Amino acid sequence: MTILETYQHRHPGSARLYEEALRTFPSGVTHDIRYLAPFPIFVERAQGSHKWDVDGNEYIDFVMGHGALFLGHAHPEITRAVLEQAPKGTHYGASHVLELEWGKLVRRLIPSAEAVRFTSSGTEATLMATRLARAYTSRDKLLKLDFHFHGWHDALVGARFAESDTPRSAGVPAATLSNTLSVPQNDIRLVEERLARGDVAAVILEPTGASWGTLPLKEGFLADLREVTRRHNSLLIFDEVVTGFRVALGGAQERYGVTPDITTLAKILAGGLPGGAVTGKADIVSMIEFRDNPEWNQERRVAHPGTFNANPLSAAAGVTMLSLIGDGRYHRHADGLMARLIPALNAVLQRRGVPGCAYGLASYFHLALGKDAPRPQEGIEWPWQDGELPMRTSPPLVQALKRGMLNHGVDLMGGSGGFTSGVHTEADIDHTLEAFEATIAEMQTEGLL
Ligand SMILES: Cc1ncc(COP(=O)(O)O)c(C=O)c1O
Repeated sequence: MTILETYQHRHPGSARLYEEALRTFPSGVTHDIRYLAPFPIFVERAQGSHKWDVDGNEYIDFVMGHGALFLGHAHPEITRAVLEQAPKGTHYGASHVLELEWGKLVRRLIPSAEAVRFTSSGTEATLMATRLARAYTSRDKLLKLDFHFHGWHDALVGARFAESDTPRSAGVPAATLSNTLSVPQNDIRLVEERLARGDVAAVILEPTGASWGTLPLKEGFLADLREVTRRHNSLLIFDEVVTGFRVALGGAQERYGVTPDITTLAKILAGGLPGGAVTGKADIVSMIEFRDNPEWNQERRVAHPGTFNANPLSAAAGVTMLSLIGDGRYHRHADGLMARLIPALNAVLQRRGVPGCAYGLASYFHLALGKDAPRPQEGIEWPWQDGELPMRTSPPLVQALKRGMLNHGVDLMGGSGGFTSGVHTEADIDHTLEAFEATIAEMQTEGLL
Protein backbone atom coordinates (compact mmCIF):
# COMPACT_ATOMS: atom_id res chain seq x y z
CA MET A 1 0.00 0.00 0.00
CA THR A 2 1.15 3.56 -0.63
CA ILE A 3 1.52 6.09 2.20
CA LEU A 4 -1.80 7.60 1.19
CA GLU A 5 -3.61 4.24 1.03
CA THR A 6 -2.23 3.25 4.42
CA TYR A 7 -3.33 6.58 5.83
CA GLN A 8 -6.87 6.07 4.54
CA HIS A 9 -6.92 2.48 5.76
CA ARG A 10 -5.81 3.40 9.32
CA HIS A 11 -8.20 6.30 9.78
CA PRO A 12 -11.76 5.39 8.73
CA GLY A 13 -13.29 7.17 11.74
CA SER A 14 -11.45 10.40 11.01
CA ALA A 15 -12.47 10.17 7.34
CA ARG A 16 -16.14 9.84 8.35
CA LEU A 17 -15.99 12.75 10.78
CA TYR A 18 -14.25 14.87 8.18
CA GLU A 19 -17.14 14.34 5.76
CA GLU A 20 -19.40 15.81 8.45
CA ALA A 21 -16.96 18.59 9.30
CA LEU A 22 -16.93 19.69 5.67
CA ARG A 23 -20.61 20.57 6.02
CA THR A 24 -19.85 22.93 8.94
CA PHE A 25 -16.32 24.30 8.61
CA PRO A 26 -14.46 25.75 5.61
CA SER A 27 -12.20 22.91 4.43
CA GLY A 28 -13.47 20.99 7.45
CA VAL A 29 -10.95 22.48 9.88
CA THR A 30 -10.76 25.20 12.53
CA HIS A 31 -7.15 26.35 11.99
CA ASP A 32 -5.29 26.60 8.67
CA ILE A 33 -2.39 24.46 9.84
CA ARG A 34 -4.67 21.54 10.73
CA TYR A 35 -5.68 21.15 7.09
CA LEU A 36 -4.39 17.89 5.61
CA ALA A 37 -5.45 16.14 2.41
CA PRO A 38 -7.41 13.94 2.07
CA PHE A 39 -8.56 14.51 5.69
CA PRO A 40 -6.92 15.33 9.04
CA ILE A 41 -7.01 13.05 12.09
CA PHE A 42 -9.65 13.59 14.76
CA VAL A 43 -8.16 13.29 18.23
CA GLU A 44 -10.13 11.94 21.17
CA ARG A 45 -7.79 12.24 24.14
CA ALA A 46 -4.24 13.12 25.06
CA GLN A 47 -1.91 12.54 27.97
CA GLY A 48 1.69 13.59 28.48
CA SER A 49 3.55 13.39 25.16
CA HIS A 50 0.96 11.11 23.53
CA LYS A 51 -2.47 11.45 21.96
CA TRP A 52 -5.04 9.01 20.58
CA ASP A 53 -7.36 9.44 17.62
CA VAL A 54 -10.96 8.29 17.17
CA ASP A 55 -9.73 5.10 15.44
CA GLY A 56 -7.66 4.14 18.48
CA ASN A 57 -4.30 5.02 16.88
CA GLU A 58 -1.68 6.33 19.32
CA TYR A 59 0.73 9.14 18.46
CA ILE A 60 3.83 10.69 19.93
CA ASP A 61 2.88 14.32 19.72
CA PHE A 62 5.32 16.96 18.53
CA VAL A 63 2.57 19.51 17.82
CA MET A 64 2.25 20.04 21.56
CA GLY A 65 -0.68 22.42 21.35
CA HIS A 66 1.06 24.46 18.62
CA GLY A 67 3.89 24.92 21.08
CA ALA A 68 1.75 25.78 24.11
CA LEU A 69 2.14 22.50 25.99
CA PHE A 70 5.64 22.71 27.40
CA LEU A 71 4.65 20.18 30.05
CA GLY A 72 2.64 17.95 27.74
CA HIS A 73 -1.06 17.15 27.66
CA ALA A 74 -3.15 17.16 30.82
CA HIS A 75 -0.23 17.71 33.15
CA PRO A 76 -1.53 16.63 36.59
CA GLU A 77 -0.65 19.86 38.40
CA ILE A 78 -2.01 22.13 35.67
CA THR A 79 -5.15 20.00 35.45
CA ARG A 80 -5.57 20.21 39.22
CA ALA A 81 -5.17 23.99 39.20
CA VAL A 82 -7.84 24.35 36.50
CA LEU A 83 -10.20 21.90 38.24
CA GLU A 84 -9.79 23.73 41.53
CA GLN A 85 -10.51 27.06 39.89
CA ALA A 86 -13.52 26.07 37.75
CA PRO A 87 -16.05 25.70 40.59
CA LYS A 88 -14.83 28.99 42.09
CA GLY A 89 -15.82 30.81 38.92
CA THR A 90 -14.45 31.27 35.42
CA HIS A 91 -15.00 35.00 35.04
CA TYR A 92 -15.32 37.51 37.85
CA GLY A 93 -15.68 40.63 35.74
CA ALA A 94 -13.30 41.98 38.36
CA SER A 95 -9.67 41.94 39.39
CA HIS A 96 -8.43 38.75 41.04
CA VAL A 97 -5.41 37.41 42.89
CA LEU A 98 -4.37 34.84 40.27
CA GLU A 99 -3.93 37.48 37.55
CA LEU A 100 -1.65 39.38 39.89
CA GLU A 101 0.45 36.28 40.58
CA TRP A 102 0.57 35.56 36.84
CA GLY A 103 1.67 39.09 35.98
CA LYS A 104 4.37 39.04 38.66
CA LEU A 105 5.73 35.78 37.23
CA VAL A 106 5.94 37.34 33.77
CA ARG A 107 7.81 40.30 35.23
CA ARG A 108 10.18 38.02 37.08
CA LEU A 109 10.96 35.79 34.09
CA ILE A 110 11.00 38.07 31.03
CA PRO A 111 13.88 40.59 31.06
CA SER A 112 12.00 43.38 29.23
CA ALA A 113 8.83 43.02 31.33
CA GLU A 114 8.39 46.12 33.44
CA ALA A 115 4.60 46.25 33.00
CA VAL A 116 2.18 43.61 31.69
CA ARG A 117 -1.22 43.54 30.01
CA PHE A 118 -2.93 40.22 29.38
CA THR A 119 -4.81 39.42 26.17
CA SER A 120 -6.68 36.33 24.97
CA SER A 121 -4.25 35.21 22.25
CA GLY A 122 -0.94 35.88 20.55
CA THR A 123 -2.70 37.68 17.72
CA GLU A 124 -4.25 40.07 20.21
CA ALA A 125 -0.87 40.56 21.83
CA THR A 126 0.83 41.61 18.57
CA LEU A 127 -2.19 43.76 17.72
CA MET A 128 -1.85 45.60 21.02
CA ALA A 129 1.94 45.83 20.65
CA THR A 130 1.60 47.62 17.32
CA ARG A 131 -1.13 49.89 18.68
CA LEU A 132 1.06 50.85 21.64
CA ALA A 133 4.05 51.48 19.38
CA ARG A 134 2.05 53.73 17.08
CA ALA A 135 0.52 55.68 19.96
CA TYR A 136 3.85 56.02 21.75
CA THR A 137 5.83 57.22 18.73
CA SER A 138 3.01 59.05 16.91
CA ARG A 139 4.16 57.23 13.75
CA ASP A 140 2.03 55.00 11.52
CA LYS A 141 4.39 52.64 9.70
CA LEU A 142 5.36 49.19 10.91
CA LEU A 143 8.37 47.31 9.65
CA LYS A 144 8.23 43.54 9.67
CA LEU A 145 10.54 40.94 8.19
CA ASP A 146 9.62 38.68 5.27
CA PHE A 147 8.09 35.35 6.31
CA HIS A 148 7.84 36.32 9.99
CA PHE A 149 4.46 35.39 11.40
CA HIS A 150 2.63 37.46 13.99
CA GLY A 151 -0.97 36.22 13.89
CA TRP A 152 -3.73 37.20 11.53
CA HIS A 153 -4.84 40.79 12.24
CA ASP A 154 -4.79 43.37 9.44
CA ALA A 155 -1.69 45.29 10.50
CA LEU A 156 0.66 42.31 10.26
CA VAL A 157 -1.00 39.61 8.17
CA GLY A 158 -1.24 41.90 5.20
CA ALA A 159 2.47 42.38 4.69
CA ARG A 160 4.56 40.52 2.18
CA PHE A 161 4.93 36.88 3.11
CA ALA A 162 6.53 35.46 -0.02
CA GLU A 163 8.93 36.99 -2.50
CA SER A 164 5.94 37.50 -4.79
CA ASP A 165 4.73 40.62 -2.94
CA THR A 166 1.37 38.90 -2.50
CA PRO A 167 -0.29 39.61 0.83
CA ARG A 168 -0.70 36.51 2.95
CA SER A 169 -4.42 37.01 3.20
CA ALA A 170 -7.13 38.54 1.07
CA GLY A 171 -9.41 41.09 2.70
CA VAL A 172 -6.81 43.53 3.98
CA PRO A 173 -7.46 47.13 2.87
CA ALA A 174 -4.79 48.61 0.61
CA ALA A 175 -4.50 51.55 2.99
CA THR A 176 -3.55 49.20 5.80
CA LEU A 177 -1.08 47.32 3.62
CA SER A 178 0.62 50.54 2.72
CA ASN A 179 1.45 51.12 6.38
CA THR A 180 3.11 47.74 6.87
CA LEU A 181 6.50 47.40 5.25
CA SER A 182 8.45 44.19 4.97
CA VAL A 183 12.13 43.59 4.27
CA PRO A 184 14.23 40.41 4.15
CA GLN A 185 15.61 39.30 7.49
CA ASN A 186 19.34 39.52 8.22
CA ASP A 187 19.82 42.62 6.06
CA ILE A 188 20.48 45.36 8.60
CA ARG A 189 21.40 47.86 5.89
CA LEU A 190 17.93 47.64 4.35
CA VAL A 191 16.31 48.01 7.77
CA GLU A 192 18.39 51.05 8.54
CA GLU A 193 17.66 52.63 5.16
CA ARG A 194 13.96 52.31 5.82
CA LEU A 195 14.14 53.55 9.40
CA ALA A 196 16.14 56.59 8.34
CA ARG A 197 13.00 58.10 6.83
CA GLY A 198 11.78 58.63 10.40
CA ASP A 199 8.24 57.33 9.99
CA VAL A 200 8.47 53.77 11.38
CA ALA A 201 6.81 53.25 14.76
CA ALA A 202 8.33 49.83 15.36
CA VAL A 203 10.21 46.90 13.93
CA ILE A 204 8.58 43.60 14.85
CA LEU A 205 10.14 40.17 14.40
CA GLU A 206 10.30 36.61 15.62
CA PRO A 207 13.62 36.81 17.48
CA THR A 208 14.94 33.38 16.46
CA GLY A 209 13.94 33.84 12.80
CA ALA A 210 10.90 33.47 10.59
CA SER A 211 8.29 30.82 11.40
CA TRP A 212 9.72 29.83 14.78
CA GLY A 213 13.23 29.62 13.45
CA THR A 214 12.54 27.87 10.13
CA LEU A 215 14.72 30.62 8.66
CA PRO A 216 17.17 31.37 11.46
CA LEU A 217 18.67 34.79 12.09
CA LYS A 218 22.35 35.51 11.60
CA GLU A 219 24.36 35.93 14.74
CA GLY A 220 24.45 39.56 15.76
CA PHE A 221 21.34 40.60 13.82
CA LEU A 222 19.29 41.16 16.98
CA ALA A 223 21.96 43.36 18.52
CA ASP A 224 22.23 45.32 15.26
CA LEU A 225 18.46 45.78 15.20
CA ARG A 226 18.55 47.03 18.77
CA GLU A 227 21.12 49.62 17.81
CA VAL A 228 19.48 50.90 14.62
CA THR A 229 16.00 51.09 16.12
CA ARG A 230 17.40 53.14 18.98
CA ARG A 231 19.27 55.41 16.62
CA HIS A 232 16.11 56.16 14.62
CA ASN A 233 13.71 56.35 17.57
CA SER A 234 11.70 53.35 16.41
CA LEU A 235 10.62 50.75 18.93
CA LEU A 236 11.78 47.15 18.80
CA ILE A 237 9.14 44.46 19.33
CA PHE A 238 10.12 40.85 19.94
CA ASP A 239 7.25 38.53 19.15
CA GLU A 240 8.06 35.80 21.65
CA VAL A 241 4.73 33.97 21.32
CA VAL A 242 6.65 30.77 20.47
CA THR A 243 10.11 31.50 21.88
CA GLY A 244 8.97 32.98 25.21
CA PHE A 245 9.61 30.58 28.12
CA ARG A 246 11.02 28.09 25.57
CA VAL A 247 14.40 29.00 24.07
CA ALA A 248 15.26 30.17 27.59
CA LEU A 249 13.01 30.84 30.55
CA GLY A 250 13.20 34.52 29.68
CA GLY A 251 12.82 33.84 25.95
CA ALA A 252 15.14 34.83 23.10
CA GLN A 253 15.86 38.15 24.83
CA GLU A 254 17.45 36.29 27.71
CA ARG A 255 19.22 33.78 25.47
CA TYR A 256 20.80 36.47 23.27
CA GLY A 257 21.05 39.29 25.80
CA VAL A 258 19.13 41.79 23.68
CA THR A 259 16.25 43.59 25.37
CA PRO A 260 13.38 44.83 23.18
CA ASP A 261 11.06 47.71 24.05
CA ILE A 262 7.94 45.54 23.75
CA THR A 263 7.49 41.77 23.97
CA THR A 264 4.49 39.70 22.98
CA LEU A 265 3.75 36.39 24.68
CA ALA A 266 1.18 33.58 24.45
CA LYS A 267 1.28 29.74 24.19
CA ILE A 268 3.42 28.49 27.14
CA LEU A 269 2.41 31.64 29.04
CA ALA A 270 -1.13 30.35 29.59
CA GLY A 271 -0.27 26.75 30.43
CA GLY A 272 -2.18 25.27 27.51
CA LEU A 273 -5.29 27.43 27.87
CA PRO A 274 -6.06 30.53 25.78
CA GLY A 275 -4.09 33.59 26.74
CA GLY A 276 -1.50 36.12 25.69
CA ALA A 277 0.24 39.20 26.99
CA VAL A 278 1.97 42.34 25.87
CA THR A 279 4.77 43.51 28.08
CA GLY A 280 7.78 45.79 27.97
CA LYS A 281 8.95 49.18 29.10
CA ALA A 282 6.64 50.68 31.70
CA ASP A 283 6.29 54.02 29.94
CA ILE A 284 5.15 52.25 26.74
CA VAL A 285 2.76 49.69 28.24
CA SER A 286 1.44 52.45 30.49
CA MET A 287 -0.06 54.13 27.43
CA ILE A 288 -3.02 51.97 28.57
CA GLU A 289 -3.21 53.55 32.03
CA PHE A 290 -5.87 55.97 33.19
CA ARG A 291 -4.47 59.26 34.37
CA ASP A 292 -5.80 62.13 36.36
CA ASN A 293 -6.06 64.07 33.14
CA PRO A 294 -9.24 64.04 31.01
CA GLU A 295 -7.38 65.07 27.87
CA TRP A 296 -5.02 62.08 28.22
CA ASN A 297 -7.84 59.66 28.95
CA GLN A 298 -9.97 60.78 26.03
CA GLU A 299 -7.43 61.49 23.35
CA ARG A 300 -4.05 59.98 24.04
CA ARG A 301 -4.69 56.86 26.02
CA VAL A 302 -4.64 53.44 24.29
CA ALA A 303 -7.92 51.69 25.05
CA HIS A 304 -7.85 48.01 25.86
CA PRO A 305 -10.95 46.02 26.77
CA GLY A 306 -11.17 42.22 26.11
CA THR A 307 -13.77 40.04 27.82
CA PHE A 308 -11.43 37.14 28.51
CA ASN A 309 -8.23 39.04 29.38
CA ALA A 310 -6.57 37.22 32.29
CA ASN A 311 -9.56 34.96 32.82
CA PRO A 312 -9.19 32.90 36.00
CA LEU A 313 -8.90 29.51 34.27
CA SER A 314 -6.04 30.65 32.02
CA ALA A 315 -4.46 32.43 34.97
CA ALA A 316 -4.62 29.25 37.07
CA ALA A 317 -3.00 27.20 34.29
CA GLY A 318 -0.47 29.93 33.50
CA VAL A 319 0.63 30.46 37.10
CA THR A 320 1.10 26.72 37.53
CA MET A 321 3.03 26.36 34.26
CA LEU A 322 5.36 29.27 34.93
CA SER A 323 5.94 28.15 38.52
CA LEU A 324 6.69 24.56 37.53
CA ILE A 325 9.23 25.47 34.84
CA GLY A 326 10.99 28.09 36.95
CA ASP A 327 13.94 25.92 38.04
CA GLY A 328 14.96 25.07 34.47
CA ARG A 329 14.88 21.30 34.90
CA TYR A 330 12.16 20.78 32.27
CA HIS A 331 14.10 22.95 29.83
CA ARG A 332 17.22 20.86 30.34
CA HIS A 333 15.14 17.73 29.69
CA ALA A 334 13.31 19.02 26.58
CA ASP A 335 16.51 20.54 25.12
CA GLY A 336 18.46 17.38 25.89
CA LEU A 337 15.99 15.25 23.94
CA MET A 338 16.21 17.64 21.00
CA ALA A 339 20.00 17.53 21.12
CA ARG A 340 19.66 13.76 20.58
CA LEU A 341 16.77 13.87 18.07
CA ILE A 342 18.24 16.30 15.53
CA PRO A 343 21.62 14.59 14.94
CA ALA A 344 19.83 11.24 14.74
CA LEU A 345 17.34 12.56 12.14
CA ASN A 346 20.29 13.82 10.14
CA ALA A 347 21.98 10.43 10.45
CA VAL A 348 18.86 8.84 8.94
CA LEU A 349 18.99 11.25 5.98
CA GLN A 350 22.70 10.60 5.56
CA ARG A 351 22.26 6.83 5.71
CA ARG A 352 19.45 6.83 3.18
CA GLY A 353 21.14 9.32 0.88
CA VAL A 354 18.26 11.77 1.11
CA PRO A 355 18.98 15.45 0.46
CA GLY A 356 17.93 17.74 3.27
CA CYS A 357 18.58 18.38 6.91
CA ALA A 358 17.17 18.65 10.41
CA TYR A 359 18.03 21.60 12.59
CA GLY A 360 16.54 23.55 15.45
CA LEU A 361 17.07 25.41 18.66
CA ALA A 362 16.45 24.51 22.29
CA SER A 363 13.29 22.34 22.11
CA TYR A 364 12.07 22.90 18.55
CA PHE A 365 13.16 21.33 15.29
CA HIS A 366 12.59 21.76 11.57
CA LEU A 367 13.09 19.41 8.65
CA ALA A 368 14.04 20.65 5.19
CA LEU A 369 13.76 17.85 2.66
CA GLY A 370 14.28 17.47 -1.05
CA LYS A 371 17.31 19.61 -1.77
CA ASP A 372 20.94 19.40 -0.73
CA ALA A 373 21.52 21.38 2.42
CA PRO A 374 24.29 21.65 4.97
CA ARG A 375 23.53 19.79 8.21
CA PRO A 376 24.58 20.79 11.70
CA GLN A 377 27.83 18.97 12.42
CA GLU A 378 28.00 20.18 15.98
CA GLY A 379 24.95 21.02 18.05
CA ILE A 380 21.56 21.45 16.43
CA GLU A 381 21.54 24.91 14.87
CA TRP A 382 21.52 25.56 11.12
CA PRO A 383 25.15 25.77 9.98
CA TRP A 384 25.31 29.17 8.36
CA GLN A 385 27.08 29.53 5.06
CA ASP A 386 27.44 33.04 3.74
CA GLY A 387 24.20 34.50 2.51
CA GLU A 388 22.31 31.21 2.68
CA LEU A 389 19.03 30.34 4.31
CA PRO A 390 17.70 26.81 4.71
CA MET A 391 15.26 25.98 1.94
CA ARG A 392 11.68 25.08 2.74
CA THR A 393 10.25 21.66 2.05
CA SER A 394 7.74 21.73 -0.81
CA PRO A 395 4.06 21.33 0.22
CA PRO A 396 3.61 17.88 -1.47
CA LEU A 397 6.63 16.53 0.43
CA VAL A 398 5.41 18.08 3.70
CA GLN A 399 2.01 16.43 3.28
CA ALA A 400 3.51 13.03 2.42
CA LEU A 401 5.85 13.25 5.41
CA LYS A 402 2.99 14.24 7.72
CA ARG A 403 0.78 11.34 6.54
CA GLY A 404 3.68 8.89 6.63
CA MET A 405 4.70 9.84 10.15
CA LEU A 406 1.06 9.65 11.30
CA ASN A 407 0.89 6.13 9.83
CA HIS A 408 3.86 5.28 12.05
CA GLY A 409 2.43 6.93 15.17
CA VAL A 410 4.07 10.36 15.19
CA ASP A 411 2.34 13.73 14.74
CA LEU A 412 4.54 16.55 13.43
CA MET A 413 3.71 20.23 13.70
CA GLY A 414 2.76 21.51 10.25
CA GLY A 415 4.24 18.30 8.85
CA SER A 416 7.92 19.16 9.04
CA GLY A 417 8.90 20.08 12.57
CA GLY A 418 7.82 20.10 16.14
CA PHE A 419 8.42 20.65 19.81
CA THR A 420 9.74 18.44 22.56
CA SER A 421 8.39 19.07 26.04
CA GLY A 422 9.42 18.49 29.60
CA VAL A 423 7.55 15.16 29.52
CA HIS A 424 8.71 13.53 26.27
CA THR A 425 10.82 10.44 26.91
CA GLU A 426 13.88 8.73 25.45
CA ALA A 427 11.50 5.99 24.27
CA ASP A 428 9.50 8.65 22.37
CA ILE A 429 12.69 9.67 20.58
CA ASP A 430 13.56 6.01 19.81
CA HIS A 431 10.13 5.44 18.29
CA THR A 432 10.20 8.73 16.37
CA LEU A 433 13.50 7.81 14.75
CA GLU A 434 12.15 4.41 13.69
CA ALA A 435 9.05 6.11 12.29
CA PHE A 436 11.17 8.64 10.42
CA GLU A 437 13.42 6.01 8.88
CA ALA A 438 10.39 3.97 7.78
CA THR A 439 8.61 7.02 6.36
CA ILE A 440 11.68 8.24 4.47
CA ALA A 441 12.11 4.74 2.99
CA GLU A 442 8.46 4.76 1.87
CA MET A 443 8.82 8.21 0.35
CA GLN A 444 11.86 6.97 -1.56
CA THR A 445 9.96 3.90 -2.77
CA GLU A 446 7.25 6.22 -4.06
CA GLY A 447 9.84 8.32 -5.87
CA LEU A 448 9.13 11.38 -3.74
CA LEU A 449 12.69 11.69 -2.49
C1 LIG B 1 5.31 34.15 16.46
C2 LIG B 1 3.82 34.13 16.57
N1 LIG B 1 3.16 35.27 16.84
C3 LIG B 1 1.83 35.31 16.97
C4 LIG B 1 1.07 34.17 16.83
C5 LIG B 1 -0.42 34.23 16.97
O1 LIG B 1 -0.79 33.66 18.17
P1 LIG B 1 -2.27 33.08 18.35
O2 LIG B 1 -2.36 31.88 17.47
O3 LIG B 1 -2.35 32.77 19.82
O4 LIG B 1 -3.21 34.15 17.95
C6 LIG B 1 1.70 32.96 16.56
C7 LIG B 1 0.93 31.72 16.42
O5 LIG B 1 1.42 30.65 16.15
C8 LIG B 1 3.11 32.93 16.41
O6 LIG B 1 3.76 31.79 16.11
